[in-house]
Amino acid sequence: MSSPTLHLGQTLRFEGDPFVLGPEAAVHEQRGAVLVADGRIADVGTAEALTARHPQAARVDHGAGLILPGFIDAHAHYPQTAMIASWGKRLIDWLNSYTFPEEMRFADPAYAAEISGRYLDILLANGTTSVCSYCTIHPGSVEALFTAAEARGMRVFAGKTCMDRPGTTPDGLRDTAQSAYDDSKTLLTRWHRRGRASYVITPRFSPTSTPEQLEVLGALWAEHPDCLMQTHLSEQTDEIAWVKSLYPQARDYLDTYEVYGLLGERGLYGHAIHLEPREKDRLREVGAALIHCPTSNTFIGSGLFDMAGLKATGLSVGLATDTGGGSSFSMLRTMAAAYEIGQLRGTPLHPSQLIWLATQGSAQALHAADRIGDLAVGMEADLTVLDLASTPAIAQRSAVAQDLWEALFPTIMMGDDRAIAATVVAGRMVQG
Ligand code: GUN
Ligand code: ZN
Repeated sequence: MSSPTLHLGQTLRFEGDPFVLGPEAAVHEQRGAVLVADGRIADVGTAEALTARHPQAARVDHGAGLILPGFIDAHAHYPQTAMIASWGKRLIDWLNSYTFPEEMRFADPAYAAEISGRYLDILLANGTTSVCSYCTIHPGSVEALFTAAEARGMRVFAGKTCMDRPGTTPDGLRDTAQSAYDDSKTLLTRWHRRGRASYVITPRFSPTSTPEQLEVLGALWAEHPDCLMQTHLSEQTDEIAWVKSLYPQARDYLDTYEVYGLLGERGLYGHAIHLEPREKDRLREVGAALIHCPTSNTFIGSGLFDMAGLKATGLSVGLATDTGGGSSFSMLRTMAAAYEIGQLRGTPLHPSQLIWLATQGSAQALHAADRIGDLAVGMEADLTVLDLASTPAIAQRSAVAQDLWEALFPTIMMGDDRAIAATVVAGRMVQG
């Protein structure tokens, strides 16, 4: 039992979805407080009320820092940490030239352990307290990430990446339908719901799987319906044409998942840029989540996600870096890229929507909003504290702000890990 700690500062939380309710969904306290006890949020309110209610609690005063729920990166590839920012290719060439050779290195458990630790420490430095990550085909890559997450107390969602199709995957980076099923099941049994770990069934995408593999992973998901399932969908037009050639009988890209039992409410579909009307309808009908990866979509040249249109139809959307296809580990930079893509589509996102996507939106997509992504009593105490004046350029802009949103937006657009004043994981200050 740790003694209760009162975190004092500005606080921001949401009482609903700002895409539905507008910025009024946000509740901002200029001088607020969050009481943390035994890894959970025990009280939230004004600093005045909480200091009166909890006079014995230890205090951490973040001053003018803005206390938020920890950022949640809903789609990433931790094994791509060391090859982030690789130049000049589009998706299929990028996978073959940079990604697959790097992922082969994870056959070595020592390398997997080194990158897992490095990756999670980079996340914490960027205020990201939870991630949903792909691993590689190697079970040891999953062990390494969950082990490193457990050591840091982080809520991490992850799974063994499955890929067995000869011709689309290189020798040395291929499993089989049977081994994918067996290894995924073993890892799931070992890690799912152990502490803060959640196992995610992870077919990479339909081009790298045989129909047999998609089918057995669909069966595994049916056996474990409380697990999430993550994959990629309609990221680039070349990729969609490739899927059509590999699955000529499919109605569309989503159908290659649907017919094998890989479409469902707990499904996470990364990118989802070039969707057909039928695909949008089906995704909405089943209540699946789309994961927007804006820095990746600009970096690999994939296209402009239709945030406003898709949210307006009621689809669940999370926000993610997609590192190392994404060009940054920072969810601040990711929010900035989401804003820029919104601008290019003529629908700028409000700062309340950007912050909501990086916290509540991702938590809802991951079906974990009862635990993370909010400053509310009973939630796990994962917090990020932003310094809204972290560089001279940001400070001079926020100094003349008329309200919270104007004070926060320069940090969203120009901020990086220097803006992370503190990161708290399960009540423990790990940064700051
Ligand atoms: N599609 C299949 N695998 C990947 C990957 O690793 N990154 C991205 N951006 N798209 C993919
Ligand atoms: Zn991805």
